[in-house]
Formats: sequence, C-alpha cells, structure tokens
Amino acid sequence: MRLLHIVTSPRGERSASVAVADAFIDALRAEHPDLEVDLLDVWAEDMPEFDRRTIEAKYKSVAGEALDDVEARAWDWITGAAQRFADADRIVVGLPMWNWAYPYKFKQLVDLVSQRGLLFTFDGEAFGPGIDVERALVIATRGQAYRDPASALPESVWNHQIDFPVFFLSTVGVRDVRTLVVEHTWDDGRDESIEAAKRQVAALAPDF
Ligand SMILES: Cc1cc2nc3c(=O)[nH]c(=O)nc-3n(C[C@H](O)[C@H](O)[C@H](O)COP(=O)(O)O)c2cc1C
Repeated sequence: MRLLHIVTSPRGERSASVAVADAFIDALRAEHPDLEVDLLDVWAEDMPEFDRRTIEAKYKSVAGEALDDVEARAWDWITGAAQRFADADRIVVGLPMWNWAYPYKFKQLVDLVSQRGLLFTFDGEAFGPGIDVERALVIATRGQAYRDPASALPESVWNHQIDFPVFFLSTVGVRDVRTLVVEHTWDDGRDESIEAAKRQVAALAPDF
C-alpha cells in the first residue's frame, strides 16, 4: 500500500497534526508491513509560486506550445506532484486551522496540482475525477474547541477548515474521505486531546 502523507503544519515535532498523522501511519504500518509513505511536506517542497510564469506554463502546456526554462521547471513540478496523487492508494492530510481555515500553503498545493487532464476532467459542462484513490483521512487540528456545546458559535461557521479540503479530495477522485477533528491543541487540554486522537486514529487504521 502506498500512502501519500501531506504535511501542512510547519511546526515539526511541536505539531499536533504531525503527531496524530504519525500515530496513524504507525498503526497503518502494523496492518500493512509493506506500507510505503510518500511524504509531501508543503513547507519543505520547492513549490513554484502560482504566478504569471506558472500560469503561462499551464496555458502553453494545454496549447502544446514550447515552454521556456522557468515555465518548464514549474510545469515539471506540477506534473510530478499530480503523479504522486495518482500513484497513491491512500492519502492522509494533517491540516491545522489557520484563521478559521487551513494554511495558505495547502491552497498553493491544491492550485498547483488541480490541472485539467491531471487531477480532474472537464467536458465543458461537468467535472470528473482524474485519479482513483480509495480513501483519505483529513486530520484537522484546532487550538479552540468549537465543537464544545458551550461554544457560542455553530460548527458550520468554523467548517471552512474541513469543507474545502474534503470537497477537493472528493472531486479529484478520492472515493471515501474521512475526517478527524482534534480541538484544544493550545490550551491545558492539549495532551489529553492529542492522546485521545492518537487512540482514535489507531482504531481507524484496520479498515483504512
Ligand atoms: C497562523 C495561525 C492561525 C491560527 N488560527 C486559529 C483559529 O482561527 N482557530 C483556532 O482554533 N486555532 C487557530 N490556531 C491554532 C492552531 O490551529 C493550533 O495550534 C493547531 O494545533 C495547529 O496545528 P499544528 O499543531 O499541527 O501546527 C492558529 C495557529 C496559527 C499558527
């Protein structure tokens, strides 16, 4: 089994999403000793900016026109990353809440890899999937506790963190997208919350 592990927290060993994702991978490896993990850390990758040159690369590639060196480098990165999604049997994404949503580097990755003919199809009317991946797990970490019944704000207000990533994964062709929310990661409940999440992901591993 080949797992694409997308890291979007820059906090390394201090990151709750990394800690929970790593616990999940350990549990998955116990089920699948042949597990191969492809680590895509958006902070470590040399992701091109989605600037004018990258947009040129995209349009020229579609038109079959020649790319200059800068454009070719950007397009190579895009096709390589899209292939990593296509090669995955499963995907796990660690996703911190940043200002009610997710880190901007995650959206940069989404914009880069979401290319017609690579991650999705479009026939002029409808979008279709470009990859076929059985399952993904999105691990969403948050400092606050919005799910707490005492919270003044309804979950729907805070769901940008999860709604779009789940939509993206489903749209490009992940058939079953699961989510796990880990709250309280910046208060006294942090350790307890992370330990509970580790137990939850260990329980998810056998039928993942
Ligand atoms: C830039 C930034 C913005 C954040 N915004 C929010 C927020 O809107 N709501 C919240 O509950 N926590 C927020 N947090 C806290 C993080 O969601 C929390 O620390 C989480 O554990 C981060 O995941 P990580 O530990 O994997 O990095 C923010 C943290 C940072 C660094």
